[in-house]
Amino acid sequence: MANNKIAIVTGGNRGLGKSMALHLAKQNTNVVITYNTNEAEANATVAEIENTGGSALALQLNIGNIASLATFAQAVSAAMQQKWNATHFDFLINNAGIGATIPFMQATEEQFDNFMNVHFKGVYFLTQKLVPLMNDGGRIINISSGTTRFCNPGYSIYASMKSAIETFSRYLAKELSEKRIAVNVVAPGAIETDFNNAFVRNNPQVKSMIAANTAMGRTGVPEDIGGIVAFLCSPEAGWINAQRIEATGGVWL
Ligand SMILES: NC(=O)c1ccc[n+]([C@@H]2O[C@H](COP(=O)([O-])OP(=O)(O)OC[C@H]3O[C@@H](n4cnc5c(N)ncnc54)[C@H](OP(=O)(O)O)[C@@H]3O)[C@@H](O)[C@H]2O)c1
Repeated sequence: MANNKIAIVTGGNRGLGKSMALHLAKQNTNVVITYNTNEAEANATVAEIENTGGSALALQLNIGNIASLATFAQAVSAAMQQKWNATHFDFLINNAGIGATIPFMQATEEQFDNFMNVHFKGVYFLTQKLVPLMNDGGRIINISSGTTRFCNPGYSIYASMKSAIETFSRYLAKELSEKRIAVNVVAPGAIETDFNNAFVRNNPQVKSMIAANTAMGRTGVPEDIGGIVAFLCSPEAGWINAQRIEATGGVWL
């Protein structure tokens, strides 16, 4: 039975976002997932949620296209109205992202701008466009990365944008306090997804090197993260605010 809460998970068709969407649906939250290009995969994720008694819908979003974000917010509004007869939602999970290994001396301005738009400017202005559609007492969870604490060569652009998201999150928690919206960061470590051409999943040497440097003795899987995000959207987590929660199994301690 639905609890009448609604979550938006950007990049919810695969990887970490899919696990978040499935866990949120399991706690009876209606879910809007977004995809950029993989519409069929998004529809399959919606079907997986609905086949197990949940309720979900999928919308296209290119978060790096800043000019499209106001139109996306209108699409969210219309879709929520149509599917759930709702005008507002409760949880925003800014998860969508891209990865690449780009050594500092080879980085181009185009790559920098692409990462900035997807990982920082897009998240900033998408949140600005969506907050008016959020219920008071909602939650925002921004997905960062362990690489803001430790250094992974080739991630200077990516990790810098994630650091910006962490600072942004604390400001959001302060500025949205009138609406009592809690804002937290989840910072995963290396997870076996398609991210950065499945760099972790498809690379046994990288996997064993990371496992050897992780207290839990392995690399992460999407299921390690989805439940954490769902917990942060639960009533029990309401007193957690403006925190960076690292979920890496204890890597490079
Ligand atoms: N995997 C890791 O090791 C790891 C570690 C720390 C943090 N993270 C962070 O966790 C988040 C999810 O990563 P993941 O591993 O699940 O990645 P993933 O498996 O590669 O999935 C990326 C997701 O983001 C969407 N996306 C990509 N570009 C987009 C754009 N321009 N606009 C809107 N959506 C876009 C994709 O949609 P389509 O499928 O339609 O393209 C897909 O749903 C990212 O923010 C990433 O930085 C990942």
